[in-house]
Amino acid sequence: MLIKKNLINIKTSATLAINELSHKLERKGKIIYKFGLGQSPFPVPKIVEQELIKNAHQKNYINVSGLHELREQVARYHTVKNRNKYLPENIIIGPGSKELIFQTQLVLDCDLLLPIPSWVSYEPQAQILNKKVHWLETNSDSNWNLLPDSLDRFCKKSSSINKLLILNSPNNPSGTIHGELEELAKVAKHYNIIILSDEIYAELDFSGEYKSIAHYYPEGTIISSGLSKWCGAGGWRIGNLVFPKELSFIKDNIRSVASETFTSVSAPIQYAAIKAYSENHSQYLKQSRTILKTIGDYIHEELSTVGLKCQKPQGGFYMLCDFTKIIKKTNEIIDSKSLCNKIIKDIGFAMLPGSDFGINKELLISRIAFVDFDGENALKIFEESKLLNDDFLQLTCPNIIEGIRKLKEWIINRN
Ligand SMILES: Cc1ncc(COP(=O)(O)O)c(C=O)c1O
Repeated sequence: MLIKKNLINIKTSATLAINELSHKLERKGKIIYKFGLGQSPFPVPKIVEQELIKNAHQKNYINVSGLHELREQVARYHTVKNRNKYLPENIIIGPGSKELIFQTQLVLDCDLLLPIPSWVSYEPQAQILNKKVHWLETNSDSNWNLLPDSLDRFCKKSSSINKLLILNSPNNPSGTIHGELEELAKVAKHYNIIILSDEIYAELDFSGEYKSIAHYYPEGTIISSGLSKWCGAGGWRIGNLVFPKELSFIKDNIRSVASETFTSVSAPIQYAAIKAYSENHSQYLKQSRTILKTIGDYIHEELSTVGLKCQKPQGGFYMLCDFTKIIKKTNEIIDSKSLCNKIIKDIGFAMLPGSDFGINKELLISRIAFVDFDGENALKIFEESKLLNDDFLQLTCPNIIEGIRKLKEWIINRN
């Protein structure tokens, strides 16, 4: 038996691989500062967790689209957040939004447009499906946003192909929020582009506002989201797709494919998820955002003191760091990947190379995730003291403080 040509080079997803490498090095006795894998540090809200315990006995298969009551709640939630009427019939619940994004790519006969940078898994998913990918340039001066003009220029050149554009904001890896959504929506509408708006971090916009391109182009936007990031439930594996009625034919097709592949998400998780959507979590969310913003600001400020160029995070828990101007290339450091390997080897600081996100590998850009802290403890201390000063950070994020100190020291010693 032979492996298909397009699958020979598929590797373990970069984020999961860095986690495995970090654990391996730890087992060998090395101290690792984990800025690689990005998972929520916060606990699942108690009320949602208790609902899961209460529903442990739920054992039957569930409707492929998901539990009706859950879809009602998801539809209600997105109707408010995305300012468009969504119906339970046009929701699909799946085992994580990653799988659902894959299924969307699978059923659509189109090329994939990705802004540089984009999340690590979109392109490999396209590769698995033999789908052509077009990377669209952005830069740090435009906050890593895809500019409407760039999209327009690309579309003018390639009017004959069907296009799916994946937009993600707040963005992984840049931590920035997408601006000019209205103008971008106009271009997308003009060229009949379908947008998959990956809103998995939307509740973690530090401003507390829920921004979406669906506000301006609802009829052409599929929304993907879930509980992994704002609700701390990455390991629960539940996500959803939300379709406008105009695109319900795509939903029907994905539903059929889902019925022949994953069948449905684990029943107890779906029952518990109803509580995630029906209850008010505003205090938990406000505190989570405030803590993340404080840490992001701290790292940004610290790294700026040694000349590292970083974009200040505006949401989520990531940022891009540009070493290009301060680190000279050597035999050991030839690109962003070898830079990350060198730094993890030297000081145990784990992060991901920008090249995993589509950034030119020649640029010494890396992504750091600032989640190596006990979120439950941080929420408790914040609740008690309401203070977010240096003492708070020392108390709640010692690994982050120490990791950043080591990275700064490493940079200083090389100059
Ligand atoms: C941008 C982005 N989209 C989607 C996902 C997938 O989330 P999940 O499959 O847990 O819903 C992730 C997870 O890291 C992500 O960072």
